[in-house]
Amino acid sequence: MAKVLVPGGAGYIGSHVVRALLGAGHDVVVLDNLSTGFRQAVHRDARLEVMDLADRESVAALLDRERFDAAVHFAASIVVPESVADPLKYYMNNTVNTTALIEGLVRTGVEAVIFSSTAAVYGMPAGGVASEDTPTAPINPYGRSKLMSEWVLEDTAAATALRYVALRYFNVAGAALDNTIGQRTPAATHLIKVAAQAALGRRDSLSIFGTDYDTPDGSGVRDYIHVEDLARAHVDALTHLLAGGDSKVLNCGYGHGASVREVLDTMKRVTGVDFPVVEAPRRAGDPPTLIADARRIRDELGWTPQQDDLELICRTAHAWEATL
Ligand code: UD1
Repeated sequence: MAKVLVPGGAGYIGSHVVRALLGAGHDVVVLDNLSTGFRQAVHRDARLEVMDLADRESVAALLDRERFDAAVHFAASIVVPESVADPLKYYMNNTVNTTALIEGLVRTGVEAVIFSSTAAVYGMPAGGVASEDTPTAPINPYGRSKLMSEWVLEDTAAATALRYVALRYFNVAGAALDNTIGQRTPAATHLIKVAAQAALGRRDSLSIFGTDYDTPDGSGVRDYIHVEDLARAHVDALTHLLAGGDSKVLNCGYGHGASVREVLDTMKRVTGVDFPVVEAPRRAGDPPTLIADARRIRDELGWTPQQDDLELICRTAHAWEATL
């Protein structure tokens, strides 16, 4: 079993991965500045070091002291419109801090790194389906900051003993099946979270951003993946690297999509609440359809989804939202 550093382990996806790593028997140290993460999201069996990745001296001292076997790196800014308004925040926090972390990992002999990447690296792929071989063409600083980090990993892996798996997440949603952790960020704009808030009567209205897309019902289509399936993908990727496996870039999605209208209908059905919905213009920068070609992760890591069920995703998101 490995001693694993998890920067960003107090956030939504990171906290689920920390639990999955502990469940697989790994020893976990979370590094988080708690700017968007939450202390109570960190499992009690993991150790939390409250630290900013930008604090190079403290991070270097931690790496020297602990001698990790692997790192699973989530710490990043993730809001697309904010990245357009404040690109330097994204390049500093995502690309520069990630580069410094990688430098520290290489210096201290850490050879296995899992990196949180995003489907945003594809921009608006033709046909709406992206495989790992689809040309990358990010359309916002968020996607570019993540793609640049992938390049830093690729070039570093070519020149050192470091091996990595970059996981390109599609639309992550839902909460832990035991309802102990979930998406806590109060102002999150993600569709399924917003729909859960609407079903709980916590927002006046919910807008469908665009009803005239070239999709079956006119609303945007995304590949929603349950956060626990995504967490398992990280454990599988780590197992692969610890066994000496090679570097990879892998999509994380189910390979099929749901429209905004389908998501809202599903949330209404599972909660029994017919919350009000209004039709609104398209949101700038939204692709009509974004679905993963998700074959490679199954073939190469043996990852098997267990929660590929939009009702379950909506039910767990709603149950979690009700606890907040
Ligand atoms: C994007 C990013 C993702 C990032 C996330 C968080 C891309 C390809 N993906 O996902 O990497 O982590 O933002 O910022 O850039 N919708 C509504 N009404 C709402 C909210 C959303 O109709 O109130 C629609 C959107 O137009 C879209 C779908 O629901 O069609 C999903 O939107 P959202 O949950 O915000 O995620 P993305 O924008 O797909």
